[in-house]
Amino acid sequence: MKPKTYKWGIIGPGKIAGKFSEDLAKVPGAELYAVASRDKGRAEEFAEKYKFSQSYGSYEELAQDKEVDIIYIATPHVFHCENTLLCLRNKKAVLCEKPFAMNSEEVSKMIEAAKEHNVFLMEGMWTVFLPHYQYLLEKIKSREFGKLLNLKADFGFAAPYLPEKRLYNKSLGGGSLLDVGIYPVFAALSLMGVPEKVKAKAEICNTGIDESCIINFQYDTGAVASLDCAINNTTPTTASLTFEKATVTVKNRFHEPTSILIEQDGKEKEIHFEVNSRGYNYEAAHVQQMLDEGRTESTVMSFQKSRELMGLLDLIRTRIGLIY
Ligand SMILES: NC(=O)c1ccc[n+]([C@@H]2O[C@H](COP(=O)([O-])OP(=O)(O)OC[C@H]3O[C@@H](n4cnc5c(N)ncnc54)[C@H](OP(=O)(O)O)[C@@H]3O)[C@@H](O)[C@H]2O)c1
Repeated sequence: MKPKTYKWGIIGPGKIAGKFSEDLAKVPGAELYAVASRDKGRAEEFAEKYKFSQSYGSYEELAQDKEVDIIYIATPHVFHCENTLLCLRNKKAVLCEKPFAMNSEEVSKMIEAAKEHNVFLMEGMWTVFLPHYQYLLEKIKSREFGKLLNLKADFGFAAPYLPEKRLYNKSLGGGSLLDVGIYPVFAALSLMGVPEKVKAKAEICNTGIDESCIINFQYDTGAVASLDCAINNTTPTTASLTFEKATVTVKNRFHEPTSILIEQDGKEKEIHFEVNSRGYNYEAAHVQQMLDEGRTESTVMSFQKSRELMGLLDLIRTRIGLIY
């Protein structure tokens, strides 16, 4: 049987929207249909570059287009909640970029709206759909390497200091935790669960956002996660996992399609995961599969997972005294 075709729309044609579109074009059954910008000219330019057939000069017009099935939201974090609510009210399925929103209160509003309108909604925590991540989750479930005792993960890059731009601008939700720290935090959450104790320290810069952050999770089982992130410094961006019977290193950059090194019984084995994309096609294909199955919530990146993730990010921000 021929797969159903889904017409995708994009809100916020910035950097990530371009990369996502390139991967979306590789997903069977995905039609690059429409793009919306606050500026009609920018929407037209993006549509031409990535081969979308429609372009709109407002987000409302895209949300109201009866042809659109799924909308991918790629605006700065502070707009995720309002953009998502707009799409859900118009009965569009939504894939919203990470972080899902600015805090747990907004996440709850979005989930309640999805339930009220009976429409699919998912946070674009794309890493969880990558083959190497699925492999690790499977190993943890099967206990092949024994219990996971320790996780170390980091994500840091040296972004130019541009106070007006998204990363350093507090009014746009800037800071290292929500931009890149979310990856190590999500790694700990998805591989080890919700920690019992959370400690965190950050360097707050002139614009009032966290340029870097160090986080420590402790679990009742004795397991520990040491996580850090930065937007003012390039760090190895790897993850190492110590199990009872093996050590696993997820190479640079650990959240992307990558390879894994396993050391067990004195032997080393490297596993390469063949991925012919940046990796965003996996989450997009998953959204379509969920819609094929008539679901309004992902079986992988569930509402509960998004709530837990935002709960941890809120708690870390309380520890470092960062209030938006
Ligand atoms: N999954 C990933 O790997 C990944 C990677 C990078 C970023 N992200 C996430 O994606 C989101 C966007 O990041 P980005 O790096 O693509 O940002 P970006 O390049 O700045 O693009 C954001 C877009 O949002 C729109 N926008 C609406 N209101 C805006 C405002 N007041 N100021 C600036 N832009 C505004 C703009 O489009 P118009 O003005 O044309 O409408 C702009 O092109 C963030 O939430 C980020 O966390 C995810």
